[in-house]
Amino acid sequence: MKDNTAQAEHWNGPAGQRWASLCDRHDYRLANIQNALMAFAAPERGMHVLDIGCGCGTTTLKLAEACAPGRVLGVDISAPMLAAARARAASVAVEFVEADAATMKYRPGYDLVFSRFGVMFFADPVAAFAHIRTALKPGGRLAFSCWCAMKENDWVSLPFEAARDLLPPQVPQDPHEPGQFAFADDKRVHSILAGAEFRNIHIERLAMEVKLGADVDDAGNGALGSGALLRAAAELDEPTREIILVRLRNLMAQYAAPDGVALPGACWLVGAGV
Ligand SMILES: C[S@@+](CC[C@H](N)C(=O)[O-])C[C@H]1O[C@@H](n2cnc3c(N)ncnc32)[C@H](O)[C@@H]1O
Repeated sequence: MKDNTAQAEHWNGPAGQRWASLCDRHDYRLANIQNALMAFAAPERGMHVLDIGCGCGTTTLKLAEACAPGRVLGVDISAPMLAAARARAASVAVEFVEADAATMKYRPGYDLVFSRFGVMFFADPVAAFAHIRTALKPGGRLAFSCWCAMKENDWVSLPFEAARDLLPPQVPQDPHEPGQFAFADDKRVHSILAGAEFRNIHIERLAMEVKLGADVDDAGNGALGSGALLRAAAELDEPTREIILVRLRNLMAQYAAPDGVALPGACWLVGAGV
């Protein structure tokens, strides 16, 4: 099986540190998705739940609240994100473990394997999901969210397009490379799960608004300060970044409302059984 060393390095390097420092911003962005994903996953009192790619632990804590006195384990490959998760969970009965979810040794018997955008990073997704399936007890379920294509996610594509002519040339990427949009094709997701011997696979599209900031400045800074645009603009000089920021503020102004700036997005809600 291809291993996940490259992703482990990514999530333990500057990208992971930055995510950890921005976890409140990520939660704010995902607020609309969080409720829909929890309703879709339907955790219940007493369940034992595994939260894969739990990051800074927001979903792990929500699951613990919903499932008490059940057992909830958050698994992540990133030390800085888990440090943030542990700090947030000081008084809550959850466990976190730093491990590669594709290969770690699971104590079997989980009712639910859950993930909010934490499963698109496996180098060999069929092998990873086949391994994860062994953590579920008979009758157990899998429920996760993953992003639809970038072109269906204006909150990512429009800021990028606004800056594109000022960015260094972008190397075209294999759309199946581990990363944010690796599971954009729902037929591929279905075939990965079928290949890992999951049953009753169902995939729903969720269209929603992704909240980018409290106001135009906050949303513009946030767009340049995270994700694909942050990486693409990393080497630009200050005057060029300033031009991009002005463009981003103009873009955000078109989507500003009294309760903040939100742009359209879409993700898949994916469920399956063993
Ligand atoms: C996009 S972040 C999502 C974090 C969190 N679920 C959330 O919604 O805020 C993806 C997470 O998956 C983790 N991850 C990537 N590959 C992993 C692997 N092989 N095993 C465990 N975690 C992994 C990353 O470290 C990161 O925390």
